[in-house]
Amino acid sequence: MTPEDESAAPSPHGSAPRRAVRSFVVRAGRMTVAQERAWVELWPRFGLESTDAPLDLASVFGREAPRTLEIGFGNGESLVALATAHPERDFVGIEVHPPGVGHLLLRIEEFGLGNLRVVCRDAVEVLQRCIPDASLDEVLLYFPDPWPKKRHHKRRIVQPDFVALLASRLRPGGTFRMATDWQPYAEHMLAVAGACVALHNDSPQGDYVPRPDSRPVTRFERRGQRLGHGVWDLAFRRP
Ligand SMILES: C[S@@+](CC[C@H](N)C(=O)[O-])C[C@H]1O[C@@H](n2cnc3c(N)ncnc32)[C@H](O)[C@@H]1O
Repeated sequence: MTPEDESAAPSPHGSAPRRAVRSFVVRAGRMTVAQERAWVELWPRFGLESTDAPLDLASVFGREAPRTLEIGFGNGESLVALATAHPERDFVGIEVHPPGVGHLLLRIEEFGLGNLRVVCRDAVEVLQRCIPDASLDEVLLYFPDPWPKKRHHKRRIVQPDFVALLASRLRPGGTFRMATDWQPYAEHMLAVAGACVALHNDSPQGDYVPRPDSRPVTRFERRGQRLGHGVWDLAFRRP
């Protein structure tokens, strides 16, 4: 079934609500033996079981520290680099691809990263149900799926409701950072986040910002480089 078939499929039960349009299709990627082990042995230590109750991140980390949330971390290499470089901050990553989560769990163990935890669930649901208002200092969305075909644009995670929800979870002064190698998606991000009344564009020209030194190169950025794509960085602050 293609994504568009899925979202258009009539309910077999007539009145039952349709599934919401999602920004991902869970791929049947195979897990390595090491990743399988990580899920069994490391998930209980570094995974956050998200129920529909708000997460108490201060008790998860045993401290109050500045907090960064990354959405769609892929294999987690940006989080590993950031959590290693910033032991004074706490990091939460959200990803729906189980092998990517397994990969990150292994790195957390390897580098002994006590300031990093993982959630395996749709980030929209996590923001809605598990992240309290005004509880994050930074949210990162690096190289989200661009869904380039017009009929798939509704699947892009950056939508007005999503950005408004995310803005409400930032503390005043907190920043929402995005990067993409797909120019039409960069323009879409700029239009959608620029129209969010709760956010202010950090770019003095009202468009893109220079690449932040803090942003690690990720697998999808390297892929874009190989294909000769440019990269657009955006940063929006909650005043
Ligand atoms: C194109 S990849 C980029 C991965 C990584 N950020 C990088 O730069 O290499 C996008 C990732 O976002 C994840 N994703 C998409 N929608 C998501 C959602 N609603 N919640 C959590 N993860 C999501 C996908 O599973 C995928 O791993």
